[in-house]
Amino acid sequence: MTEQDEILHLRHELEQHNYNYYVLSAPVISDYDFDMMMHRLQDLEAKHPEMEDPNSPTCRVGSDISQKFEQVTHRYPMLSLANTYNEGEIREWYDRAVKGLDGERPEVVCELKFDGVSISLWYDDGQLTKAVTRGDGTQGDDVTANVRTIRSIPLTLRGNYPKRLEMRGEVLMPWPVFDRLNHEREMQEEPLFANPRNATSGTIKQQNSAVVAKRQLDAFLYFVLGEQLPCATHYDNLMAARSWGFKISEHIKLAHSIDDIMAFITHWDTERHHLPFATDGVVLKVNNLRQQQELGLTAKSPRWAIAYKFQAERACTRLESVSFQVGRTGAVTPVANLDPVLLAGTVVKRASLHNADIIKQLDLHLGDMVYVEKGGEIIPKITGVDLDQRSFMIGPEVGFITRCPECGTPLVRYEGEAAHYCPNEMCPPQQVGKLIHFVSRKAMNIDGLGEETLQAMFQQGLLHDVADLYELTAPQIAAMERMGAKSAHNIINAIRNSVEVPFERVLFAIGIRFVGQTVAKQIAVAMKSMDAIVAASAEQLMQIDGVGERIAKSVESFCRDERNLLIISRLRHYGLQMNISTELLEAQTDKLAGMSIVISGVFQKHSRDEYKAMIEKNGGKNASSVSAKTTFILAGDNMGPAKLEKAQALGVKIVNEDEFLSMIADE
Ligand code: IVH
Repeated sequence: MTEQDEILHLRHELEQHNYNYYVLSAPVISDYDFDMMMHRLQDLEAKHPEMEDPNSPTCRVGSDISQKFEQVTHRYPMLSLANTYNEGEIREWYDRAVKGLDGERPEVVCELKFDGVSISLWYDDGQLTKAVTRGDGTQGDDVTANVRTIRSIPLTLRGNYPKRLEMRGEVLMPWPVFDRLNHEREMQEEPLFANPRNATSGTIKQQNSAVVAKRQLDAFLYFVLGEQLPCATHYDNLMAARSWGFKISEHIKLAHSIDDIMAFITHWDTERHHLPFATDGVVLKVNNLRQQQELGLTAKSPRWAIAYKFQAERACTRLESVSFQVGRTGAVTPVANLDPVLLAGTVVKRASLHNADIIKQLDLHLGDMVYVEKGGEIIPKITGVDLDQRSFMIGPEVGFITRCPECGTPLVRYEGEAAHYCPNEMCPPQQVGKLIHFVSRKAMNIDGLGEETLQAMFQQGLLHDVADLYELTAPQIAAMERMGAKSAHNIINAIRNSVEVPFERVLFAIGIRFVGQTVAKQIAVAMKSMDAIVAASAEQLMQIDGVGERIAKSVESFCRDERNLLIISRLRHYGLQMNISTELLEAQTDKLAGMSIVISGVFQKHSRDEYKAMIEKNGGKNASSVSAKTTFILAGDNMGPAKLEKAQALGVKIVNEDEFLSMIADE
């Protein structure tokens, strides 16, 4: 077999394995074997740039090259659906359809209404050519590069598919992925996504498709469009689409009567809470395409379909009291304590009140009867007050506290932000947050200390700050609940081993506000030691690439705080790395100092990550998108034509692999 043939063979095999894993949920090879095949394909593709194919499985990892979304006009407009919360209106819709069909009683396909972002996928000759968002229904954004990273969306079709075809469906983020993402964002002090839909739309509009690839979106397809569809009914077309490799929901039912429809709605109104993704209703579609045509469209939506939306489940109960919780970042959240009430299958005792403005808007008084809703959101929320039930016996108006309930420090409210913060970094919830961050994988990577354990250790007075970790003893840990001698021993070992963690990660681990991993590394490389950082002024810090005023001020104020200095000196005493490693330092040059470099394309001699590391080592900065500030593009094979055009327009120099290597070579 020639290498060209091998490329084609591997592409086919890898797509089949993708399909087995992400559509059928039935993998037949190990992850390891999959990775090996993928690496082999990457190597071969690098050797054969003439074989470039945007639908190769290697494109599913995305690229960190920043993209602009072109506007695309939909081949068929993307209509919306009429929707209702009311079963009576579903009956009326059905009766209207019967009338419109001169008495024929149509079969109706019942589907779930997925709560994500709608997408239109174009396939020509079985190849994905474009993925477009809904936009205004006539025009949407071309998000093809991002959609290619969604593993359950086929890049090439199988079986007997029509030559030209459009698939509509919903991109979504499953609950477990959503929970993980929000958890990570919390650790990085980034704002949380309110629900999976927001997280999905934020992700699909990412300029960096490598980020999209990491977010693990999924997709269900629910509508086939084209001139040469194989079947005369929607249901059969969906089944055909399933055979072409599309992920079609299993929860579809063909209803023969209004009773069947109602049974489907009733079933999913409660069952939906057990699904691994969010649904906000049911979609009903007349099955027969001829009947669909006869019924036609109104200005906005088809008459042959309707959406039934589930009530955001709502209950009414008494507001007993309001408490205030302090989170890891010091943000103070008001929480309503309620007379327990049943909502969406669970007993709700507490609900979010968001912030001071919302409390004011609601004109909330203690003892009020309040409405609690559980929508797609994580935590139930108070959406209103039943004023008819307010009596002269009502309690006082709910106000916002002025001091931190944990430590008594006066709260602050930053300009433009709705939340109140406790500014005291020594406040207990913030302290526990710092411990959690310190041991996390990307920081000191100390295994075995989960959030609960750290919380318990803090409460028992074993830990006050991160330096205390290095004073823990095995008997102390073993004496804790659910801990044994063995796990205590492992934890002590993990703590001991962490003294080897390089300085740049120690700098990240100590939890200076706004100092993430990348910034920590940049500061470490520039300043070389903790002493130098402590001695530096904000102005000096701002000279470092990637360090702006906000970060510089935060580092400065951290280093002016005696308590932090004490922790640093104790950590030094326990043997943690307080200087940049000699390897990193020796390897460090300033050959690329002040340069902003964009990497693009496929390379022969080193991987992208290796080139990124070389740029950093030589004092350069990795930038993700081409701009006027770009010093040069390190280009491999297959650099995207759009990128090339932009580089030429801006007059940015293109440097190939060999030229780059000789730039940084030792004299
Ligand atoms: S069919 C002409 N089916 O709901 C019919 N839509 O306004 C086109 N949606 O924007 C839509 N699940 O994003 C259809 N099973 C499903 C759906 C669904 C979710 C979304 C879709 C659309 C909105 C309806």
